[in-house]
Amino acid sequence: MGRAFLRRCRAVPWAAGLPVIAPLLIGACSGDPYPQSTLHPTADAGSAIDALYRQIFWWAVLVFVVVQTALVVTLIRFRNRPGAGEPRQIHGNTLVEITWTLAPAAIIVAIAVPTIKTIFAVRGDAPADALQVEVVGHQWWWEYRYPALGIVTANELHLPQGRPVALAITSADVIHSFWAPKLHGKRDAMPGRTTRLVFTPDSVGTYLGQCAEFCGESHANMRLRVTVQSPADFDAWVAAQTVPPVAVDSTQALILAGEAAFKRIRDPGNHSCVACHTIAGVSGGVLGPNLTHVGSRTTLASGILANDSAGLARWLRDPLAEKPGSLMPTIALTEDEVAALVAYLQSRN
Ligand code: CUA
Repeated sequence: MGRAFLRRCRAVPWAAGLPVIAPLLIGACSGDPYPQSTLHPTADAGSAIDALYRQIFWWAVLVFVVVQTALVVTLIRFRNRPGAGEPRQIHGNTLVEITWTLAPAAIIVAIAVPTIKTIFAVRGDAPADALQVEVVGHQWWWEYRYPALGIVTANELHLPQGRPVALAITSADVIHSFWAPKLHGKRDAMPGRTTRLVFTPDSVGTYLGQCAEFCGESHANMRLRVTVQSPADFDAWVAAQTVPPVAVDSTQALILAGEAAFKRIRDPGNHSCVACHTIAGVSGGVLGPNLTHVGSRTTLASGILANDSAGLARWLRDPLAEKPGSLMPTIALTEDEVAALVAYLQSRN
């Protein structure tokens, strides 16, 4: 940036608008033109915050117009002219003093009343029928537990449309911040404490978000997505997540080899997949994401890779290259092992 950039922008006038246009173009490519916009809310809490923001915005416009108009009129009408003497000095005009004290005070009250009402509305207690979800921030991924449903999953939060949800948010290590901008504001995830977010999603769709508190080397790679489904689709997802994983078909040699590789303990370092990951009936590690139904997720590594053969292979070969600082070590896997693990993990759906 700096002068050289501005010089180039002047040489190509349209380039000066690029910082403004680029995000719009990028958004347009993703289908949803506003994937992380607080201005296009899809839940009651997000809508309440957005409505408050719009009210305050118009108060700010009013103040801007009044102040700028007064400034411009004063600059033109009372400018210095040749031969004009010193203007008449006025000091302590009671009407002006009272006006510019009371008018801002009235505007502040007009902003404060809806602000306080909104704070209480979006920080209220969850209704008794709310869906309870525990959110645990980890370096650098999100764990979601649905205690009443017996589901533990990662990074992709599924919620039913139209039902209140109560997120109980905490952290396993450092301070993170859970933020899905279209649904609600940010909420810190702190070790040893539980914070809450209560909202009711009103539209079916997938909403993106990310960690909003700097939490170390891969903070920027700590994305999340919230999939809001119709109640019937959500029930189908719950049913699929709660069935025991299918047993490995003994005729599928590649998948069998993958399961063996998943269980293998490796020297040096004694690393293994099973030490950190749970696959129900196979292993019980809790350091990394639960992989019991990993094949049903759309992304890997908290949203930075697509959950397909190529993405899985990239992640398995060198996690540290994809997510710097990741606790998942880079293990020397043979290409045969990578192919077998990809087949095995994709069969866990
Ligand atoms: Cu987690 Cu930033």
